Amino acid sequence: MRWTIPMIGLAASLLAACGGSAACDEILQLQGDLTVGDIVYGNRCETCHGPAGEGDEGPALTDRIPRITRCRVISQVVDGGGLMPAFGDSLDPQDIADVVEFVSLEFR
Ligand code: HEC
Repeated sequence: MRWTIPMIGLAASLLAACGGSAACDEILQLQGDLTVGDIVYGNRCETCHGPAGEGDEGPALTDRIPRITRCRVISQVVDGGGLMPAFGDSLDPQDIADVVEFVSLEFR
């Protein structure tokens, strides 16, 4: 099979969609702490996603979390997207691992 430019583009975007990003790999290595994650969630996420992940300004995480990979959650937090701000500069990688652990277990 010959690789055409559009096929290479498609392969690259598929790779990006299912991880392989440096931020994702780095954060996946860290052990998230649920207690700290709960606090980070309360401080940074709850106003938009609701105390129980039921959604408010942002979508219900109880709908989203079961459908997306952990890597997708990480990249949403690091880079933002849609109307959600990026947290890659204001949270350190350990805080991100903690909050991702919290939402992944709490809202799955
Ligand atoms: C200013 C409001 C706001 C804040 C604060 C916020 N979000 Fe979001 N979030 C959104 C919006 C809006 C979307 C929908 C983005 C879209 O798909 O258009 C979203 C989407 C998401 C998604 C779903 C991504 C997907 O692919 O379906 C996750 C997971 C998420 N946010 C987690 C978090 C976490 C964790 C925090 C705290 C670190 C946070 N959000 C803080 C508004 C916010």
